[in-house]
Amino acid sequence: MCMQSERQTTGMKFFVDTADTNEIRDLAETGLLDGVTTNPSLVAKTGRDFIDVLKEICAIVDGPVSAEVTATEAAAMIAEGNKLAAVAPNVTVKVPLTWDGLKACRALTQAGTPVNVTLCFSANQALLAAKAGATFISPFVGRLDDMGQDGMELIAEIKTIYDNYPAIETEILVASIRHPIHLKQAAMMGADVATLPPDVLRKLASHPLTDKGLAAFLADWQKTGQKIL
Ligand code: G3P
Repeated sequence: MCMQSERQTTGMKFFVDTADTNEIRDLAETGLLDGVTTNPSLVAKTGRDFIDVLKEICAIVDGPVSAEVTATEAAAMIAEGNKLAAVAPNVTVKVPLTWDGLKACRALTQAGTPVNVTLCFSANQALLAAKAGATFISPFVGRLDDMGQDGMELIAEIKTIYDNYPAIETEILVASIRHPIHLKQAAMMGADVATLPPDVLRKLASHPLTDKGLAAFLADWQKTGQKIL
């Protein structure tokens, strides 16, 4: 497993955006899952204890697992972040993009805890997160689309800015992805990571022509009466 702070060099990373451990276990079996992101709403949906869920997710996946603080003041965010980080070595603490969140990001990062700065909706916010030492910045593309802005334009802007300053090691984690086109566009822009809802992740491998072509191959093969094994 590569260090969480290492800017990735081997291709786009796929995280799943859920706290549902059954979904995570199922998707992890593909061997294509690089990490997990959760947020308070996703944890609430499970109806389970946060720390229990976090422990379970961290045991399923080797890669980074984002766990979000719910305090709003820096000192309390840092205390919550330390508690979450102690759950497992692959926890990434998630903080919101507020001044307190940025202060907490700097402090947690300096203490060696990777931080994902979330709820990013502007390029300037992303620049601040990088200055605060964030391991990941999470721009929410779907929520911008929902209000009539182009979420992917924000990814392009952040990519340009980060590439202008090679010292920036913060990875662009495209969040609030709603459909496979978001993922394709993010990859074309060279985003480091995408976090996908389980259904969107599953859709990536599907194409009706793949299904149709496979059915035809198998029907023709059956006619030969042969078996490979
Ligand atoms: O986890 C953060 C983000 O991916 C949430 O997405 O669909 O609630 O906007 P969404």
